[in-house]
Order: sequence, then structure tokens, then C-alpha cells
Amino acid sequence: MEQNVSQELVEAGRGYESLFVPALFEQWTKHLIEGAGIEAGWHVLDVACGTGVLARQALSRTGSGGRVVAVDPAPGMLIAAREIEPSIDWILCSAEALELEDETFDSVISQFGMMFFEDRQKSAEEMFRVLKPGGSLAIAVWNSVDHNPAYADIIIVLQEQVGVAAADALRLPYSLGNTEEVTTLLDNTEFSDISVETMVETARFPSSRHMVEAELRGWLPLFDIFLSEAEIDDVLIESDKTLSKYANSSGEAIFPTSAHVITARKN
Ligand SMILES: C[S@@+](CC[C@H](N)C(=O)[O-])C[C@H]1O[C@@H](n2cnc3c(N)ncnc32)[C@H](O)[C@@H]1O
Repeated sequence: MEQNVSQELVEAGRGYESLFVPALFEQWTKHLIEGAGIEAGWHVLDVACGTGVLARQALSRTGSGGRVVAVDPAPGMLIAAREIEPSIDWILCSAEALELEDETFDSVISQFGMMFFEDRQKSAEEMFRVLKPGGSLAIAVWNSVDHNPAYADIIIVLQEQVGVAAADALRLPYSLGNTEEVTTLLDNTEFSDISVETMVETARFPSSRHMVEAELRGWLPLFDIFLSEAEIDDVLIESDKTLSKYANSSGEAIFPTSAHVITARKN
């Protein structure tokens, strides 16, 4: 249970749900639900659930005869998640230490979280532990930044305008683009039928300004990088120029994103 969570963290969670989920994340959920083969009545766990977009899709597939549990270590995300869907069991814990019984779930799913796990091997072991024999796993990780051109463009602007640390902070989500690390750790954990499918989906932000400003004000501070208003203005002026190629006639920023969906099974 999340207690004494600052209003700032709760607002950050709500902000993630209203901007990033529809722009970048929601379109991937169908691939995870299909990849895991989720069926009515199943018990499903979403790891690194954020505000729960994937967990909600799982619930719509399992129906009222199933059960969906979702975990994340960020309390502001879970509070925002519970406001939207109280009937999912939202649990505050990390992927490396799932506070759940052994062999409980028919499927474990996780999208765009594994890049941030401190101990990925341990997280794979935990997912394996809580799966029932025969249970399915589906994980999504971003492809490398070369395959995600809009973020490659922003990284160049950040490197030139702010410095390497800011550019590296934005590279982190793309750090598992070479899938060998994930497939090896699943293999080491005795998952079977490991398979990787690389897919493309379209991202759609209200404008490139919304997208870049959210990274500057929301993401960089997590790495102790705090820009002045003047620095933010400078980055936005540069990124407006670079990202104008993705703008449609209404000013929305629309661009392709590429990710790997990795599926496996516990025998
Ligand atoms: C990019 S968000 C993805 C959230 C959600 N799956 C979605 O698709 O919107 C990454 C999430 O990973 C979570 N996260 C970071 N480290 C984690 C860890 N060690 N264990 C579990 N979740 C973690 C963050 O709190 C954040 O909610």
C-alpha cells in the first residue's frame, strides 16, 4: 500500500498516463496480450505496470472470471493506476522481489520496464517463480535507438545543447535493443520456447514540444539533471527545428517506433 506519497509524484503518474500512454505505449499492448495468448479466466501478472495500460487490456481479455495483478515500485504510478481501474490488484514492489506466491499466474507480461531493472537476471527468476507450469511470458523492450529515429534526433540535440549525461539518460530506454541479453537471461532461467518478434508501431504526440518538454522536465530530473528555464527554451528551439519533419498539418508529432516482443514458456 502506498502511504504518504507526495502530490508531485501522483501528478507525475497522472501526467504519464495522459501524455505518454496514448502517445507511445497503448499501441503495444495488443502485441503482448496476443504474444502471451491470454484467455478468459486466466490469472495474469503485469510487471513494471506504470499506470496500468497493459494490465487493463489483460483484464478486458481475462474477464470477470480471471484475475489481474500489477506491480511497480513507483507509488505515484500505482495511485494513478488505481484511480482508473480499482478492480486490478495494484502492488508496490520491484520486479526483483515480487511479493507474490510461487506458481500463481497463467501468464506474466511486462512492457517497456526491463531496461530499468537493476538486476535483470533476478527479475527473470522472479517471473519464472510466480508462473504456473505451462504458463506464458511476454516482454516488450525498445529496439535500439537507430530504429527509433525521433528519439535518436532528440538525443543528438541533448548531447549538443546539454551534454553527455543528458543524452545518456535518454539512451537508457533503448539499451536492450540487442535482444541477446534478454534471451540469454531467459535461457539461464530455464524458460523454453523463447522467441523474438520485432515490430513497428506509430507514436503520436500532440506536438514535438509536448514530447521534448516532458523529457526535460520529467525524465532528466530522475538523473539529477535540472535545466534552467533558459536552457529548456534553447533545447526546445533546437528540437522544434529537428523534429519538424514529423509534424502533420495539425502540428502533431507522428513517427515510427520499433520494439521487440519476446515470448517464452515455463515447462
Ligand atoms: C516506461 S514505464 C512503462 C510502464 C507501463 N508498463 C506502460 O507500458 O505504460 C517503466 C516502468 O518501469 C518501472 N520500473 C522501474 N524499475 C523497476 C523495477 N526494478 N521493477 C519493476 N518496475 C520498475 C517504473 O516505475 C515505470 O513505471
